[in-house]
Amino acid sequence: LVYSYVAFFIAYLIGSISFAVVISKLMGLGDPRTYGSKNPGATNVLRSGNKVAAVLTLLLDALKGYLPTALVQHYAFELGFEDTTIAFVGVAAFIGHLFPVFFKFQGGKGVATAAGVLLAYDPLLGGLTLLCWVVVAAIFRYSSLASLIAAAFAPFFTLLFVDRPSVALAVTVMSLLLVWRHWRNIVKLMQGKESRLGEKASPES
Ligand code: G3P
Repeated sequence: LVYSYVAFFIAYLIGSISFAVVISKLMGLGDPRTYGSKNPGATNVLRSGNKVAAVLTLLLDALKGYLPTALVQHYAFELGFEDTTIAFVGVAAFIGHLFPVFFKFQGGKGVATAAGVLLAYDPLLGGLTLLCWVVVAAIFRYSSLASLIAAAFAPFFTLLFVDRPSVALAVTVMSLLLVWRHWRNIVKLMQGKESRLGEKASPES
């Protein structure tokens, strides 16, 4: 049990590394918390106009969810971890992204990190959820809408294709938190004011 808490703590610390901020700083871009949606995430880094920085942010934010989850899952037997621990190590990394200890607990919305966690739980689950995101994003060109719809579907994909109650619970918790973190986006979508994918940041956005 103690090891489970250690695993949660380490996953939380890894999740707390805000790659949107780190990559932007390393590449000499502005702080994503100061422009666009002010969200430290790949979508908002894209609004800086630098696609490489956005892709790097996406991949590294996903990796920080994938890595701790995949590792505890791979060594679950040796470490004596139950499925609940594996499932909630993923949630801990996700929570790290939302409330990062290294960034005054002001983090992002968790989309890329959740994608990494879901891929680690089960490639089919991660794949279907990503496909859902890509289809909605391709049709409507709103990153937030794609994330919201993918988050709505993810718990159902889990119930249908993954026979792991702890994972179903963890995915549902992450989806609820993700939707909550998108409330500003939901308001903007309803007002028709949400910015489309790839649109550069403007002062009033
Ligand atoms: O990755 C978060 C995305 O769904 C929305 O981001 O910057 O448009 O609020 P943003």
